[in-house]
Amino acid sequence: MPRKVILDLDPGIDDAVALAMALFDPRLDVVAVTAGGGNVPPEQATANLQALVGILDPPRLPRLGVAPDDTVRPEKPFNMHGTDGLGGIDLPRARLHGGHVSEKVIWETIHAHPREVTIICLGPLTNLSRVLARDPAIVELIGEVVIAGGTAHGQGNATPVVDFNFYCDPPAARHVIREPMAKTLVPLETTGQVTFGFDLLDQLPPESSRAGRILRGMLPHALRAHRQILGREEICLHDVAALVAVTNPELFERVTVAADVETGGELTAGMLVIDRRTVRQWRPNLDILTSCDVAAVQDCILRGLAAAGAGT
Ligand code: BDR
Ligand code: CA
Repeated sequence: MPRKVILDLDPGIDDAVALAMALFDPRLDVVAVTAGGGNVPPEQATANLQALVGILDPPRLPRLGVAPDDTVRPEKPFNMHGTDGLGGIDLPRARLHGGHVSEKVIWETIHAHPREVTIICLGPLTNLSRVLARDPAIVELIGEVVIAGGTAHGQGNATPVVDFNFYCDPPAARHVIREPMAKTLVPLETTGQVTFGFDLLDQLPPESSRAGRILRGMLPHALRAHRQILGREEICLHDVAALVAVTNPELFERVTVAADVETGGELTAGMLVIDRRTVRQWRPNLDILTSCDVAAVQDCILRGLAAAGAGT
């Protein structure tokens, strides 16, 4: 039985790559995809999501959630994703069915499949936090939550100590991390181990496939942006590595920790704080994937991209 998942994302190049892979992975039943502001403003996030799903045209169409328009999008020091979030590929706007806000789509999907759905959060945690605020009892019905974000060692990408997803909405990150449900965090250090150089471009599906066209449009931008902005010859596809943590958890090392999120610090808002005292005072509440088999995860990603190309 394929695993039922909701993808909550802020597309974003790595979000878009993860989406393309997930929609054509026979191990996953993507029941809903929901947009939120983050890498791009909410309206653009929704437009990107609808356009991507419309073009990829997966065998089973998931429900789509619209990004709430009141989400904050703090300024990011670097923008690796281009002005449209997808490396400037300028996808045609496609208005697909539905039009419910993401929070409602997540709520309804969880209620339709109690305890069966894994929510994969690839953007700021705003949408999930709102679902939990609206209906706290829903924690009993959520199968599992897997989160791309946070940094276990305080080495951030948005600020010195905070990853972009937690940086966008620290109170939401705190809310989700504190909730008593099964949660796995795939932090920046782990997703950052999985890098790809320019030779990735030779391994993408052909231009003649719909997924190939999108990937070949976005990924050169990501590689160029990393070179120009960070001086790096390789990219990390954080959200894609987090997706592999769902499909292939055996490739990751896991520890259980007691964690919380700073919301007030002038320099540290959004920082994941782990109780590492000799005698731990906080209750364990979170699994963190601390490292992975890099070559095996890269291989999964390349096979996932090929499958997306073959399906389109
Ligand atoms: C996160 O930052 C975003 O730019 C990526 O899409 C990813 O979700 C990692 O910090
Ligand atoms: Ca993202």
